[in-house]
Amino acid sequence: MNIAVIGTGYVGLTTAVAFAHLGHDVTGIDIDHGRVEALNRGRCPIVEEGLPQVLAAGLDQSRLSFTTEAEACAAASIIFLCLPTPASPSGHPDLSAIEVACANISRVAAEGAIVVCKSTVAVGTNKKIQQWLGRSDLRVASNPEFLREGTALSDFLQPDRVVIGTTDAQAAEVLRLLYRDISDDINIVGLTEAELIKYAANAFLATKLSYVNEIARICAATDADSAAVLSGVGSDHRISAQFLNPGPGWGGSCFPKDTLALHHLALDLGLDAPVIGAAIESNDVHTAYVADAIDRLVDRKASPIAVWGLTFKAGTDDTRDSPAVAIVEKLLAMGHRVTAFDPEAQTTPAGAIRASTTHHATTGADLLVVLTEWADFAKADLRRVARHMRRPQAFDTRAVLDPAAAREAGLALLKTPMDTALASC
Ligand code: UGA
Repeated sequence: MNIAVIGTGYVGLTTAVAFAHLGHDVTGIDIDHGRVEALNRGRCPIVEEGLPQVLAAGLDQSRLSFTTEAEACAAASIIFLCLPTPASPSGHPDLSAIEVACANISRVAAEGAIVVCKSTVAVGTNKKIQQWLGRSDLRVASNPEFLREGTALSDFLQPDRVVIGTTDAQAAEVLRLLYRDISDDINIVGLTEAELIKYAANAFLATKLSYVNEIARICAATDADSAAVLSGVGSDHRISAQFLNPGPGWGGSCFPKDTLALHHLALDLGLDAPVIGAAIESNDVHTAYVADAIDRLVDRKASPIAVWGLTFKAGTDDTRDSPAVAIVEKLLAMGHRVTAFDPEAQTTPAGAIRASTTHHATTGADLLVVLTEWADFAKADLRRVARHMRRPQAFDTRAVLDPAAAREAGLALLKTPMDTALASC
């Protein structure tokens, strides 16, 4: 099939590259000239496992190209919308990029083309897309994306399920054919149902994590091993062991925005949604709790703190809404000195020193705090770390450091930051 993908961010680029990999002719369209130029030269602008190689293969086989020209979607039978929908100050997603794209599509799209929205959009947006397109021959479908940053390509090619929202039987059939080689679980639903499936799935996972972090805090305060408790909980297949790892809080470009949008939707509908509201609040409480726990351990005037990890999770360079960044900012605001190392992070919080290695960050520090679960942190030479710290002690919010290796190295390892609750009792 001839496919156009408008927007080459995480979702759009993965979609374009993956469909080219599956044998389709794909054009990626983006307003960012620099990005388009780099992509056409095979330079992958994001850190994503496997993506650079599949991008290069698609370009080599001439199945994939990138352009800034909206007219390029004239040749496509399927046009994917993969545009950003950032939260506006009111908490509602900003849909202006989608509205502009619809005007362009309406001008040039071939008769009968299917316009598929992959962006996470407010409920009712796909119906608006129909209106913004303003052409009765164009078919509209919603096809929410469930890929995770860091494992985007494999999530796309091996999805748990595919959701297609449309009331157009022909669009449903074409999209079913498009996905049949990668999924046996294709859910054809209405437009609103597809929009809500995406929000409900993300809000559920975020709620699960808020709950998990609360349990971890309770474990610390009762001197229980949270890993043992949560492993016992996760063995129940109705609960599942996935998304059961405590951390410094959940973040990224999706969970915070989507939980907020779903909560606002409920309020706009005149409904109470206390569970979703509490999940958001609980996450803020948790991040503040971790920062306070660290603060209680060091003398803020003199003690340098080493931080390992700034991205919102491992496997990505993304620091948007990263709890690690929020915690570092809180520590800086409290007056601490922070030296941070991250192998990929796009940004460093203003006021923090960016270290070039894990070792550089910890040398002379009074406390090491691990905020992102990069696998390399688990391989760090803890003897060397402990030897060069002023006080060899660590908080590992992600449980990546090996407790036995830390003990042997003389690095006092508090299993979770929540242990300070116990220590201060
Ligand atoms: C999330 C969803 O998992 C995807 O299914 C969805 O497609 C995507 O949002 C989206 O809406 O586009 P992503 O934001 O890439 O994907 O990140 P996740 O892997 O879900 O992690 C979210 C946050 O939860 C991170 O801060 C992560 O560290 C945290 N987390 C995750 C934990 O603290 N513990 C866990 O066990 C799992």
